[in-house]
Amino acid sequence: MNLRNLTSLAPRWQPSSLLQTLCGALALLGATTALAQTTPPLSQQQVKLLAATCASCHGTDGGFAGPIPAIAGRPADVLSMQLLNYKHRAPAGTTVMDRIAKGYTDEELRALASHFSSIRK
Ligand code: HEC
Repeated sequence: MNLRNLTSLAPRWQPSSLLQTLCGALALLGATTALAQTTPPLSQQQVKLLAATCASCHGTDGGFAGPIPAIAGRPADVLSMQLLNYKHRAPAGTTVMDRIAKGYTDEELRALASHFSSIRK
């Protein structure tokens, strides 16, 4: 096979198809943004399920009084700030919470904060 045959096999660059691809990508982006905006808020049951994953360390209902800090009944904005801080900044000295917080969306972390804050110790 000579070189001329090879180049004829290569797809030709076509401005119209590039434009189509770009438009498709933009449309997709728009669609996912719209989807994200219309996502319903987390239900109470969903938040309870998420909160159950914290119990192994923070105790049932986040009230464990051992070496791991209790999180129940603390102000929601403090909990929320701590969780978002773990996720986005991973403060020095953090052992596990930075990795754990990365597994949740910001919305889920805020929902968890208000869930634990509403639990009376
Ligand atoms: C593997 C054990 C473990 C799990 C699971 C866990 N945590 Fe933690 N958490 C810790 C430890 C240990 C700390 C202390 C900070 C550090 O070293 O990471 C902490 C700290 C915190 C703090 C800050 C408390 C303070 O007073 O400083 C909050 C808030 C928190 N966790 C919330 C949660 C939430 C919400 C979940 C569930 C999504 C969760 N944690 C799951 C171990 C855990």
